[in-house]
Amino acid sequence: RTLRIGLIPGDGIGREVIPAGRRILEALPSSLNLNFSFVNLDAGFETFQKTGTALPDKTVETLKKECDGALFGAVSSPSTKVAGYSSPIVALRKKLDLYANVRPVKTTAGSSNGKPIDLVIVRENTEDLYVKEERTVEGPNGKVAEAIKRISERASHRISTIAGEIALRRQGIRAAAPGTSAHTQPMVTITHKSNVLSQTDGLFRETARKALAAEKFSSIHVEEQIVDSMVYKLFRQPEYYDVIVAPNLYGDILSDGAAALVGSLGLVPSANVGDGFAIGEPCHGSAPDIEGKGIANPIATLRSVALMLEFLGEPNAAAKIYTAVDANLDEAKFLSPDMGGKATTQEVLEDVLKRL
Ligand code: NAI
Ligand code: MG
Repeated sequence: RTLRIGLIPGDGIGREVIPAGRRILEALPSSLNLNFSFVNLDAGFETFQKTGTALPDKTVETLKKECDGALFGAVSSPSTKVAGYSSPIVALRKKLDLYANVRPVKTTAGSSNGKPIDLVIVRENTEDLYVKEERTVEGPNGKVAEAIKRISERASHRISTIAGEIALRRQGIRAAAPGTSAHTQPMVTITHKSNVLSQTDGLFRETARKALAAEKFSSIHVEEQIVDSMVYKLFRQPEYYDVIVAPNLYGDILSDGAAALVGSLGLVPSANVGDGFAIGEPCHGSAPDIEGKGIANPIATLRSVALMLEFLGEPNAAAKIYTAVDANLDEAKFLSPDMGGKATTQEVLEDVLKRL
């Protein structure tokens, strides 16, 4: 099988870590029978400054017509509003209908001081308050602003279904890489606030319950948690969680919060997933403070590559990358400066490649 992968480095350290992502794909063992072809694509703030758009049509068209998946580095956003600029990754999610944002957070045996964390947050990515239907009206006591929170059965159903599929697949990957996780049974935690928002979050909760009651998910332990107590427990007892599914806003907050549970932003991957397409994307930004120094941690990107492969139907290839990355972190000989080490991007990459 040959997969065609779009490479969108973007700005700043995106250009230093995306080449590492390409290298690890090229270095996968030939026994996997998996080949890759690549196409370089533009997006980001520099693209905007050069061409007037942060996401050229050609990038979108090439992804749609030619590619099976993609890797997205990071983009810089101007700190003050620049007319005509809008985030290319947000636009890409819309144009490709990438309805799920998936963010695993994992410590390795050697790199955690507490209990091992191995959870993934599955965030709905198309609706909720982020439909951005806001208005401000002038009332007798001053301005009043309002926003629509839209929850649909369709979006709630597909995000819950993908959460269930992720839970099952993680179980399979654990079996292929024994000793890397504390979980034994797949579990999905549905997060909501239906005690207050009985219609919107109520519909999310009810639809998620139904979706996860499907026969194919019968091995999954399904539970639910109100979002505020979820935050409390996520910080008190993160090792408890496996897959967490949430509407857009709660998922956004939970996934950034969960990223703080591991040592560095340079470790945390994500994927933007739709039906038949996935974009791997490290969670960090363009890191202007270390740009051009060759010391960006490539691990968030390498894990994003593995995550993309999972969604492209290649869990065995993904498991190989996860295992190699975990071994690099456990041995802690080649760590980048954000992890307290001295290794360069290249040295971390070479050490991971050696372990593949
Ligand atoms: P950032 O994630 O770029 O950096 C935060 C801190 O973490 C910095 O000290 C940076 O050096 C460090 N860091 C991040 N990734 C690292 C890595 N791989 N290895 C080692 N250290 C790493 O966030 P910041 O500084 O708030 O934003 C910088 C720019 O990135 C802004 O223009 C922002 O808009 C953009 N950004 C883009 C994102 C994206 O493309 N998805 C996400 C977050 C920020
Ligand atoms: Mg966020």
